[in-house]
Order: sequence, then C-alpha cells, then structure tokens
Amino acid sequence: MARKSTRYLCKECGAESATWMGRCPACGAWDSLTELARVIGKDAARAAGKAPVAAGRAPAGGPARPLPLAEVPLDATRRVTSGLAELDRVLGGGFVPGAAVLVGGDPGIGKSTLLLQAAHAVAAAGGRPVLYVTGEESPGQVRLRAERLGALSPGLLLLAATDLDEVLAALEQVAPSLLILDSVQTLSDPGLEAATGSPAQVRHVAQVLTRAAKASGWPLVLIGHVTKEGQIAGPRLLEHMVDAVFYFEGEEGGSGRILRSVKNRFGPTHEVALFTMGDGGLSPVEDPSGFLGGRHLKGATGAAVTVTWKGSRPLAVEVQALVSAPRYGTPARVIQGVDPRRVGLLVAVLEKAGGLAIGGSDIFVSVAGGLRLDDPSTDAALLAALASAHAGAALPDATLYLGEAGLRGDLRAGGRLAERCLEAARLGFARVLSPAAPEGVKGLPADLVRIMPDVAALLAACGLARARGLSGGFDA
Ligand code: TYD
Ligand code: MG
Repeated sequence: MARKSTRYLCKECGAESATWMGRCPACGAWDSLTELARVIGKDAARAAGKAPVAAGRAPAGGPARPLPLAEVPLDATRRVTSGLAELDRVLGGGFVPGAAVLVGGDPGIGKSTLLLQAAHAVAAAGGRPVLYVTGEESPGQVRLRAERLGALSPGLLLLAATDLDEVLAALEQVAPSLLILDSVQTLSDPGLEAATGSPAQVRHVAQVLTRAAKASGWPLVLIGHVTKEGQIAGPRLLEHMVDAVFYFEGEEGGSGRILRSVKNRFGPTHEVALFTMGDGGLSPVEDPSGFLGGRHLKGATGAAVTVTWKGSRPLAVEVQALVSAPRYGTPARVIQGVDPRRVGLLVAVLEKAGGLAIGGSDIFVSVAGGLRLDDPSTDAALLAALASAHAGAALPDATLYLGEAGLRGDLRAGGRLAERCLEAARLGFARVLSPAAPEGVKGLPADLVRIMPDVAALLAACGLARARGLSGGFDA
C-alpha cells in the first residue's frame, strides 16, 4: 500500500523537511524549500515491477513481515562478482544484491571506463542482463568506448536517459543483475522543481533508486563527479545514503589509478585497488609495491620507504620530503597524501626530540602514486625523509622505516608488524628500522630488523644526528 506524503526539499543543500519554512533550517538559505509531492513507496514498487522479489523480503508495496534471522535465505546475500579482481577486493568480494555503491571522482579520471568494464564482465558471466544508464554521453559515445574495451557483451543493455521516470520504466521491463547510473548528477525527476544536478535532485534521485534497489535486490552503482565548487552537489551529499563509498583517483598526467574505499558496510574499509589506464582501458597493477615506489632506494635524500596497511594487504610506499629556507615570512607547508596536522606534529617532534631546527623552513611532503597514508606506523619514514631533506644528506641504502611517533619523541610499533616486515623482506630490503621486532615469524632474515626505541636513535641510525645517551649507529 502506498503512503501519501509531502516533503519539502531545499534547492540549495538538499535538506529535507516535513513542513514548509521560509528559511532552510540546515543551510540558512531563504525561500529555498520546494514541495515534492510524491507517493512514497510507489517508486520502489514500480521499479520492482516484475522483478523477482528477493526471498525474505516483503513484496514491494506489501506489508513487511518479520522473519527469524536464521530463516533469512543466504541467497539474498550472494555477491555478484565484478569480474575485475582488484574491484572485487575493494567491494569485499563483489557487489551485494540490494546494496548501493557510490563511485566518486574527478571528471576524466576513468569512472565510466571502470564501470563499463565491470558491467561487461558481469553481463558476460551470464544470468540476467546488466543495465547501464548514461545521462552524460550519447549511446554512440558509449559504444565507441565499449569497442575500445572489448566490452560488447549481448547481456549489457544501454539506456540513454536523464529523466528518473524513464529509468524506473526501464527497470520495469528489465530486471537487471546490476544497475549502473552514469552519472547520478545527470538524472532528475521532473516532478521536483529543482535544477538537474542540484543537491535536491541528486539526493532525491539517489534516494528513489537506493530504495528500489533494496526492494528488488539488484546492486546499484551510482557514479558521481566530484565538483569543484565545494563538492556540495557532489558525492559527499550521498555518502550517508549508500552502503559503500569509493573514490577513484590518480595523479595528474599519470596512468596510475587508485580506487579507495572510504565506507563499506559489507567489506573492509581503507582497502585500495590499483590500476593503470592504458589503450585497452584499466588493467590491474601486478606489483603494487613497485607501483608505489616501494623498491629500495640508493643514496636518496628526502625519500624513505615504509609499509602501510590498506584493508587486507601490506603496501610498500615511498614518502618524499623537501625542506628549504622559507621564501616568505610564514613557512610554506604543501602536504599531499598525509594529514598536514600529522606532519606538523612530526616536525615539532624533530625539533624537540631530534634537536633539528626545521620548524621555520618551507616543507613539502608527498606520497608516491597518489596514495593516502592514514596509518601512524608510517611516521618513522616521514621523520627520516624530513630529517634527511633538512640535512641535505642521503639516507642509508635499502632501508625501510616503521613506527609511530609519540609526542615525547618515543617510537611505538603499530599493528601488523610481522606482515609489514615480511613484505620488506620480500621486496629485498636489507634493513628495517622499527621500534620492535616481530616475534616468532618464519622466513625473516635474522638481521633484518634493527630496534629504534625513539626518534633520536632513528636519526643516529640514519647518520643524521648523534644519539643522545644511546650507543650504536648505523653500520651496514
Ligand atoms: P572516463 O572513463 O570517460 O572518465 P570519467 O567517466 O571518470 O569522466 O575516462 C576518460 C579518460 O580515460 C579519457 O581521457 C581517455 C582515457 N581512456 C584511456 O586512456 N584508455 C581507454 O581505454 C579509455 C576507454 C579511456
Ligand atoms: Mg564518465
């Protein structure tokens, strides 16, 4: 049974309200609330159409029926593998039926390419067709891309539409095994008095389709452009409405691409998938650590390698620092791939515990491959890179750095120490400077790990400072 309801959506920020108000309570814009008279439940019922209703669910529009958890068929949670192993890993094993995934990224980064490749693979695996809705490009343009990618599976259906009702009508005809919307910003509901791509439309479209997905059991992928203007009408707006959020990123001009998971109700977060964009589309990176600069460096100044943990695997990655005399009064800080506040903290630790007069300098930091580090165990590499850049002196060869810095200048071992050390050994590093050694790990060279209890010891081992009260420097 459909429930009649009137909602008011803010045209500026997309906030919802049950009553009309002259001023949006969320963003404070005046006269921005617009009425959306819609029969809630109708969209979902229409979209569900003749689609087989997943067992354990109420038929769309019908009364919901509670079910003992043990009687919920496992079938409803079987995943739809994307056919791309890298993507599957980030998804947590494939698309989840009824779940909505948001893939955001800058225009031109390769979102359409990635999802077209996945759509083709899912369709080629047989079963129900895949529906790819394009509001951005003409069918001819999509066909051209598909030719280039070899993605012309007969089970891959294309719909060019910008009207939500057209998409709902198509869903009535096709009960897809996967629905891809490219992009959520190009679709709109003519029943809502707001411009296409406005926060109100984007939110509304996403809401109607996520409900329909849940009711019918097909996985939904929403592609969203990250917009320059504060991202207000972009994917950020939708993050709380969907089950998983991924961002597709890459360094400008480079061919490397990273798909980052920032939220995943059904899989690991912080997982990353690595691809390279070539003439035939996206291909998985075979050697992730090599891709991220995680090979051993020789005679490098201002560059150090660490092993970070991303979702389910270790990744060796190079961090780089440049330290120079300030050009203007206030020292510049240009930090990419690490939280600038973390770098600020490490600079203060180098001043206090390491005795380096580095705080007044211009400081530039970046992480190879466009990866983002949110793992404190990478502090030691940042400290080494900063200290080396500051001194203009090379770091020891074939050395890898692990450890989290404390405010007192102490270093602590983080989680997954054994796996990180094994990855370092696998990549041929001769030495790992770490606050602790992993215990009882087979396959590690006996002299691989050298214990660094604090920042002073770390600097001494790198030949960058005299250890205060500690004996033993770097002798490899
Ligand atoms: P696209 O998937 O259209 O990006 P988005 O949907 O995120 O806007 O990809 C656009 C870029 O990718 C474009 O500059 C061309 C490049 N590209 C390749 O290099 N190889 C390929 O096989 C394809 C299909 C695209
Ligand atoms: Mg696109």
